[in-house]
Amino acid sequence: MHVCTLVGARPQFVKAAAVSPALKEAGIKETLIHSGQHYDTLLSQVFFEELGVPAPVSNLEAGSGSHAKQTGDIMVRLERFIEETGPYDAVIVYGDTNTTLAGALVAAKGNIPLAHVEAGIRSFNWLMPEEINRILTDRVSKWLFAPTEIAVENLNREGLAAQTILVGDVMLDATHMFAARAKERWPLESLTHHPPKGYFLATVHRPSNTDIRENLQNIFNAFGELPLPIILPLHPRTKAALKDITIPDNVEIRAPVSYLAMLTLTSNAHRVLTDSGGLQKEAYWFGVSCVILREETEYPETFENNWSVCAGADQASIVKAAMGKPTGPQCRLGEGPEGRANMMIARSLLRSA
Ligand code: UD1
Repeated sequence: MHVCTLVGARPQFVKAAAVSPALKEAGIKETLIHSGQHYDTLLSQVFFEELGVPAPVSNLEAGSGSHAKQTGDIMVRLERFIEETGPYDAVIVYGDTNTTLAGALVAAKGNIPLAHVEAGIRSFNWLMPEEINRILTDRVSKWLFAPTEIAVENLNREGLAAQTILVGDVMLDATHMFAARAKERWPLESLTHHPPKGYFLATVHRPSNTDIRENLQNIFNAFGELPLPIILPLHPRTKAALKDITIPDNVEIRAPVSYLAMLTLTSNAHRVLTDSGGLQKEAYWFGVSCVILREETEYPETFENNWSVCAGADQASIVKAAMGKPTGPQCRLGEGPEGRANMMIARSLLRSA
């Protein structure tokens, strides 16, 4: 079996780092392509270097742009690449970015069976481009590899039960695979002088927070009210939005950090504040509670016992949530029925190719 995998944005490099070795172990040949959606070294290259993912054989260099331009550019270039290098038995896409949707449409229209890893995740917020990307990708997939039981329920409701396979979350696989390497490569003292549990870790990159000045200022005002320093590795888009924002003294802005460094910062944080779905899950797996800087989440499992609280961009709600504590134990999140999700994905592909 020969699959073509398309990645392009930061979290997809991590997911591929978990799945690619499992494909190899199962004897599946993989051709890995980079769409070029993320091109800064700190958002892209560092992940391949640190995680030992083989470098993509090709970079489509689609870059940034409007949704239509970015998605369209990736589609045109991927279609050409597949025509030149195919045939492939399957295309694999991850998550919910414009790269995901572009890969899905090219595969579906080229009649190549599509595998969607992280299928069935829903925010039920159609204003998020990611929600549109997820729903359309799921609709045209042959294999829907769902990370959670809630994702399975969502797919059942959309009439996609026949294609759905609960495998667990490949980001949980990645956490298991890379936690020890993170400790070794990035001990906490190499990243900050703050002690374990002596800081909040925050990320902000969703357009709903970065592109509305009032929301971004509210978030920073809330940070300023918190009793510990805030370590804030910053996405380039957020950095560009900061020029009119007042930044409190306890906020330490950093360049984006690598996945392994982020694992160390997350596992040692007092609490995480984020609008990222991925970081929210990682915090949960490390037993760190999380303030979600959005009105909703794709992982409502984490609400149980207040391990996560949605605070949106409301200053008082963010402060209140950040000062609160979980009220009981965690539930299971992303654990697959056969253990590691990545191996189950590889086996399922082989079985039904
Ligand atoms: C994308 C995904 C988002 C995911 C995030 C992970 C979509 C619609 N969004 O958001 O779901 O959570 O990746 O990090 O696909 N930029 C750079 N350098 C880069 C890439 C981007 O400076 O290497 C800047 C550009 O100004 C660009 C902006 O960031 O216009 C947004 O980049 P884009 O790829 O459109 O989306 P992300 O916000 O990164």
